[in-house]
Amino acid sequence: MQGKRILLGVTGGIAAYKSPDLVRRLRERGAEVQVVMTAGAREFVTATTFQAVSARTVRHDLWDAAAEAAMGHIELARWADAVLIAPASADFLARLATGQADDLLATLCLATEAPIAVAPAMNHVMWAHAATRANIATLAQRGVQVFGPGAGDQACGETGDGRMLEPTDLAERVAALLSGSGPLQGRRVVVTAGPTRERIDPVRFVSNRSSGRMGFAVAQAAREAGATVVLVSGPVGLETPAGVARVNVESAADMLAAVLKELPGTDIFISTAAVADYRPAQAAEHKIKKTAPTMDLSMERTADVLATVAARTDRPFVVGFAAETQAVEQNALAKLLKKNLDMIAANEVGHDKAFDCEENELIVLSRNGRHHLPRADKVTLARGFVALVVEDFAARAGTRQRGPALAQV
Ligand code: CTP
Repeated sequence: MQGKRILLGVTGGIAAYKSPDLVRRLRERGAEVQVVMTAGAREFVTATTFQAVSARTVRHDLWDAAAEAAMGHIELARWADAVLIAPASADFLARLATGQADDLLATLCLATEAPIAVAPAMNHVMWAHAATRANIATLAQRGVQVFGPGAGDQACGETGDGRMLEPTDLAERVAALLSGSGPLQGRRVVVTAGPTRERIDPVRFVSNRSSGRMGFAVAQAAREAGATVVLVSGPVGLETPAGVARVNVESAADMLAAVLKELPGTDIFISTAAVADYRPAQAAEHKIKKTAPTMDLSMERTADVLATVAARTDRPFVVGFAAETQAVEQNALAKLLKKNLDMIAANEVGHDKAFDCEENELIVLSRNGRHHLPRADKVTLARGFVALVVEDFAARAGTRQRGPALAQV
């Protein structure tokens, strides 16, 4: 973080008493820290404290003529390499989500092009409130990083989610955010996740048991590896991983359209979605009434998103998943060859395995060999899986680069 410029926004919450320590943790890593306080923050900690630990004049007033004459709010927004709001109160998250510019800190957040991270801190009931959930979802979709919160004892005497992460942890996360380094730095990865829903009528659909967790974990791991990640997701109840852009879709047809739209410039396509293979041939316009004693549903095939991408001449590196209830490896290998994939991850599904559960295990097959990733939580598994993708992708890119050189010989 040597020489990096962090704009630290401090908002009104009891956790603000930890923010001076956060300034020190950032500075000991070599960062310059400019503190901006909201009016609420100044009810908890004084500007003098922050000035002492940051060695810079603290800013708080949008209408401060002297400060604006020196470094105006737009310059300050441009000065920052990263913006961290810690603690981020429920009120500030709401203002950020709705794009308010009613004080200096909110205005800076609108005016900056630097990555923004928030470290929420509030009472656990406020954190769980639907309004806060919606604000966090909006911010995460815009690529705002959400650090925490942690769980534990709260200042109000209650226990639950809503504690600001510790300063050392936050400093490490900001360092990771700024480094943007990793084997997939500069690469664009598109991941599909979750089930699709195929309409029967306006209130009914055909779907499957996929929770989307594996795909979300893969998107997170790819982001951690430095990639720009777009997650095309069917309907799931999951939060978007920090720094990942999300596109919500419903049906297989929607998913194909969204993927094709996102494809230009994509280096790696990872298809974890449990896309419906069939859809009702005719979706009824009105709710179907229960008049007949039985009901037949005529179904037609949906497009295969993965095979469509793999068949393109301008295809990225293409990775599929195989959900199997039997002969896992043989079936996965057949799919790898039939769909012309670069790599496939096989998992056994059904009988309480893989779908809609926390853990999984994978067998990963590629043209270069076979790897077994043993049973683990899906994020751990996804990190191991992405490491394998990186290896194969690099080998393939190397082969492509060597191609013309060999031809010249
Ligand atoms: N897939 C897809 N579009 C579909 C069906 C599947 O993109 N319409 C992708 C999945 O995301 C996965 C791979 O194809 O990466 C294999 O999916 P799976 O359900 O295991 O197999 P299918 O190809 O659907 O074949 P089957 O159902 O006969 O096993």
